[in-house]
Amino acid sequence: MSSHTTAKPILEISGLSAHIGGQQVVEDVSFTVPATGITALLGRNGVGKTSTIKALIGLIDRTGRVELDGRRIDNEPTWKLIRRGVGYVPEDREVFSKLTVAENLRLAERDAHPRRQLVDELFPDLVKRSGQLAGTLSGGQQQMVSLARALLNDNKVLLIDEPTKGLAPKIVQEVAEALEQAAATVPILLVEQNLQVVRRLAGDAVVLSGGRVVHTGSALEFLDDADLTQRLLGVHADGEAETPAAAQEGAAR
Ligand SMILES: Nc1ncnc2c1ncn2[C@@H]1O[C@H](COP(=O)(O)OP(=O)(O)OP(=O)(O)O)[C@@H](O)[C@H]1O
Ligand SMILES: [Mg+2]
Repeated sequence: MSSHTTAKPILEISGLSAHIGGQQVVEDVSFTVPATGITALLGRNGVGKTSTIKALIGLIDRTGRVELDGRRIDNEPTWKLIRRGVGYVPEDREVFSKLTVAENLRLAERDAHPRRQLVDELFPDLVKRSGQLAGTLSGGQQQMVSLARALLNDNKVLLIDEPTKGLAPKIVQEVAEALEQAAATVPILLVEQNLQVVRRLAGDAVVLSGGRVVHTGSALEFLDDADLTQRLLGVHADGEAETPAAAQEGAAR
């Protein structure tokens, strides 16, 4: 994967700050998302990765500047900037469990010409299961539905929060494969704690700690720096957990 593209970034974030319940959870965050490939948003549990994404799209009140493809979107309501082409795949998948796969997908169609063919090619398993209730799918299959919903629309960028969380290793690889193929069609900002997945997919990495950006640069260079990953993530980049907390986290995946 290439990193540090010189092309104009698709997202440019500067001085983004947000509070939840009186606590500042995003503090003066600035980074850019290149117009191609996958940018990883990394950091230990609770550092503000999800809050940064929610602040970006106005799901929580924020201050600061956000530009999508050169146009300011930080002063716009969420519905409007979503229509401008920001796709969001939240942390807990949020499929409609009592609706079929096909119904879930149809509800997500925003554009006049949804990318049905792309989605069918990326997720052949969902084509086979189109009549199945989404609540009866495995976690991995539900994640595929969630990704498919975002990919149906012609987005300028996708914000995807922990898509491999809680999935079996084999399914993690399937989701990674789908993300890799999706990234050929749309740039992605990806929150991901599985560093093997980050290594496989990401060009650039942005690392948060305590609501602030503490590192940006090539994802591979970051992962190859054992001291840095140990200090900022509490793990070695080969996936070996070092701290007890990280070990538990690893075991849960
Ligand atoms: N709804 C909320 N109410 C109160 N505090 C919250 C809420 N959501 C998040 N926080 C706090 O904001 C901080 C950042 O949380 P956030 O969920 O953004 O972190 P994260 O990096 O996504 O964590 P994780 O790795 O667990 O997904 C944490 O201290 C968290 O406790
Ligand atoms: Mg989170």
